[in-house]
Amino acid sequence: MKVEEVADYWQKNATAWTTMARGGYDVCRNHLNTPAFLGMLPDVSGLTGLDVGCGEGFNTRLVAERGAHMTGIDICRNFIAFAEETEAAHPQGITYQLAPAGALPFSDGHFDFAMATMSMMDMPDIPRSVSEVFRVLKPGGFFQFSICHPCFQTPMFNWVRDENEEPIALVCGDYFHDELEKVLEWTFTSAPQEMKNEFGNFVIPTYFKTLSGWMNMLIDSGFVLERFEEPCPDAETVEKHPSLKGTAKVALFLHIRCRKPL
Ligand SMILES: C[S@@+](CC[C@H](N)C(=O)[O-])C[C@H]1O[C@@H](n2cnc3c(N)ncnc32)[C@H](O)[C@@H]1O
Repeated sequence: MKVEEVADYWQKNATAWTTMARGGYDVCRNHLNTPAFLGMLPDVSGLTGLDVGCGEGFNTRLVAERGAHMTGIDICRNFIAFAEETEAAHPQGITYQLAPAGALPFSDGHFDFAMATMSMMDMPDIPRSVSEVFRVLKPGGFFQFSICHPCFQTPMFNWVRDENEEPIALVCGDYFHDELEKVLEWTFTSAPQEMKNEFGNFVIPTYFKTLSGWMNMLIDSGFVLERFEEPCPDAETVEKHPSLKGTAKVALFLHIRCRKPL
């Protein structure tokens, strides 16, 4: 699929996504991924950072709050508009730009660090996007990103449930693909039914790579692997947010930090 087609899908998802996420229904992001991502993030105070596939800017704003001078890019015009609206209402000095990760409109070595939260696996040109991130980083700069875990969020994905419909295990399969494209349909499970009815499912092109495919791609781009995290909620968090039960059984997400050598 061309990047422009992927952008069209996100244009259609953006209003529903922003409304539901801002309503607190992106439970995986709010109560699992973002806390883990920020927990792993080095001190960014005073650094110049790029958020790749920033969406409506939720995580860009949180990293700006930590003192980074942030730029967010995304291919979805509607997301950039939502992000810019928020920046206008509550200025944090964030600049947003409509741009594809595979052709970043920045000079070589422009940023101290780059981040990408749950966006890299949605890009049709992942290796080129990673090379572009490498190019725009200063020597010594880091790239931290989160993705669907390649070993557990495989093309075949079915929960095994107990008699109470609780997830207890996962059936994975069809793993050995490099950049298999699938258009997935899903929504935020904890959103109220009226909202789900109103907006319908998100329709999202996604690209599957193996774990070794991800690691070797980073290494081949010139990055040095530095740190990993597989977020797992504690019992109290699962109790408060039962939709996270499955994420305590297997690692559904993988966070990676790598660095451009000096
Ligand atoms: C799952 S959303 C994540 C958004 C945001 N980072 C967050 O954590 O809420 C994936 C994002 O990646 C963006 N995206 C997909 N392909 C892209 C590309 N080639 N270049 C830039 N952004 C892209 C989509 O428009 C969407 O905003």
